[in-house]
Order: sequence, then C-alpha cells, then structure tokens
Amino acid sequence: MSTVSVVILGAGTMGTNIALDLARAGYRPQVAEVDAEQRNRSREYARAGARFMHSNGLTDVNGEKLAERVTYAESPEQALPTAEWVIEVVPEDLAVKHRVLAEAEKLAPPTAVISSNTSSILPSKLAAAMQHPERFLATHFWNPAHLLPLVEVVPHAGTKQEVIDRVVKLLADAGKHPILLKREIAGFLGNRLAFALQREAMDLVAQGVATPEDIDAVAALGFGRRMPISGIFGTADLGGLDVYRAICDELFPELCSDRAAPAKLRELVEQGKLGVKSGAGWRIYSTAEIEKLQQALSEELVRHAQRDQADQTRGAAAQHTMILDSRNDASLRRMKQGQG
Ligand SMILES: NC(=O)c1ccc[n+]([C@@H]2O[C@H](COP(=O)([O-])OP(=O)(O)OC[C@H]3O[C@@H](n4cnc5c(N)ncnc54)[C@H](O)[C@@H]3O)[C@@H](O)[C@H]2O)c1
Repeated sequence: MSTVSVVILGAGTMGTNIALDLARAGYRPQVAEVDAEQRNRSREYARAGARFMHSNGLTDVNGEKLAERVTYAESPEQALPTAEWVIEVVPEDLAVKHRVLAEAEKLAPPTAVISSNTSSILPSKLAAAMQHPERFLATHFWNPAHLLPLVEVVPHAGTKQEVIDRVVKLLADAGKHPILLKREIAGFLGNRLAFALQREAMDLVAQGVATPEDIDAVAALGFGRRMPISGIFGTADLGGLDVYRAICDELFPELCSDRAAPAKLRELVEQGKLGVKSGAGWRIYSTAEIEKLQQALSEELVRHAQRDQADQTRGAAAQHTMILDSRNDASLRRMKQGQG
C-alpha cells in the first residue's frame, strides 16, 4: 500500500478513472469535487469500475474494498493541506484551470508536486498563473485511465528536474507507463499522431476515394494489426528505410495539409451528428451496434490490461504490448551515443 497522499481535483470521467487506477495500484486517493451530484455519480461509477476490475482479474482486492480506497472531499480546501501529489482534472478551460491551480499551490504544502491532466493546453500556459511553476508539469492519462497504461509526462521549460523525476517514479510505481517528452509541444505525442491520421482519413472521404467504413477496415485489417507490436519506427525498420525514403518522396507532396477542421466534419457537427452519443456521426448506429462496439472495445482493452498485469506480477518490466520497450537496451545505447 502506498503512503503517498494523492489528491485529485475533479471527479468527472477522467478524475474518477484516475482515482480507480491509483486505488488499484495501492494508493488511497482523495478526490475533491465541487458538484455534489457529480460526487455521487463518481462514487457509483468507481464502485462499478472496481467490481469490473476485480471480476476481470485486474486486482485481487474485492470491488467494495477497492472502491473504499477512494475518498471524496467537497472542495479542494478540505483535501489539499495534506497532499504530496496533486492531479488537476477539471474541465479543459484555461480560466478554470488557472483558478484551480492557483488555489492548489496556495493550499497544498510547498513540497507537493502539482500536475495537470490537460489534453491540449501547453503546460507553460497553465503555469503562467502560478507563483511556483517549478513544481508543475502535465501528466496526460489516456481514457479509460484504469485500462490504458500510457501517461504522457510533459514538463515546461521551468519545471525542476527533481519534480520530473519524482512524478515519473510515482507513475511507474503505480504500474503506469510514463513517456517523458523532451519539451512541450501542442497535442503532446499521442494526439499529434492520432490527428495526423484523422486529417488524412477525413480528406480521403472528402475526395471521394473511400467510405469511412472502408478506411476503418484498412486501419483494422492492415497497418493497425502491426501497430501494437512494432509501432511506427519499428515497422519502418522492418520494412526497410530505403523503401520508406522512396515512399516519403513520392507521397508527402500528396498528403493533406489542411490547417483547420474540414468542411464535412463541421457539417456533421452542425447537423447534430456527434457520433454514438447522438446515434450518428461518420456512420449511423443502432443501439445494438453501439453496445456491440463498446463491449468489443472494452474486452480488447481488458485483454491487454490482463497481459500488463501478468507482466507486473511476474516482476518483469511492464512491456505492455510493445515488444521493443521504450526503455530497452538499444534506446539506452542510442541515448548514451547522444543520438536521441
Ligand atoms: N475525457 C477524456 O477522454 C479525456 C482524456 C484525457 C484527458 N482529458 C482531460 O482531463 C480533464 C478532465 O476531463 P473530463 O473529461 O474528466 O471532464 P469532466 O467535465 O467529465 O470532469 C471535470 C470535473 O471537474 C469538476 N470541477 C470543476 N471545477 C472544479 C474545482 N474547482 N474543484 C474540483 N472539481 C471541479 C467538474 O464538476 C467536473 O465533475 C480535461 O483537462 C480533459 O482535457 C480528458
């Protein structure tokens, strides 16, 4: 059981899942949520999530006991005075985050580290409102945080090295797979890569080259199958860099370089076609199809999480699904040679 006092600010989708995940790792996170109804929803969700984790073999602790590790506070004032690690998980709104972070640094002990789960705001922009930005950085958990191991750790230029090291260790001790960026950049790593693919896929639909269904099939049945094993650079190395150079020269001039959301996406949003939550988006969904999709995704994520859990139980460095771990010998050799 970890004795580190973690305070999570915000019990929405992400705050609740992060709390559940840290509880599974042996922490006793305190969650501060200002909305009473949301506190109750989060409590229920955490209970259901804890039962789900136990019944799928992701923890030995029974659901009720696991959920009890997460406690709730009505306000940041109540929770922060004992915090050693504060994770801000309030809505993605700069003004709200500035207010919450300013309050966090006032109320938390001066030795506490403070991180934000922001998906898109640069840590330096968030830190601009802080008196002590040196103890702040972003820790971007992916949704659902209790099933996905990745956390992007994004310091700003003024984050102290000792704060970075501490947060990376806290995350690794919690069974996460922290990836530390060498500098901040919009979209961090995951969203930059994912949205490069989104942009090209939407452009292919706009050009009438293929349907969204065909494009999803290409992803699922082709390069998507290799991705969890060899990733992006491993796939290129397997294919041969001479081949990749030729393809880059031929293809790059043809790829989409749009600087804003495409017309079709704007049109769908204006028509209220927001995806599964409104029954239609790029595709039209029946209720049964939505359930089937969600169920299949959940089963696949659980299957991966069970494998991660087995790795950790064996005491092996968590490899997750990548065969070549980001911290493997070759990466270390490259770093020593000053190549990365
Ligand atoms: N939802 C996702 O898929 C996802 C994934 C990765 C990162 N994120 C990021 O995580 C953050 C939270 O996202 P979310 O989807 O959980 O949002 P959400 O709206 O579901 O939850 C935010 C919660 O913060 C609470 N809150 C607001 N002000 C507060 C305060 N002063 N003190 C305590 N609680 C307060 C709100 O009542 C709400 O319950 C955002 O920065 C978002 O960009 C979201």
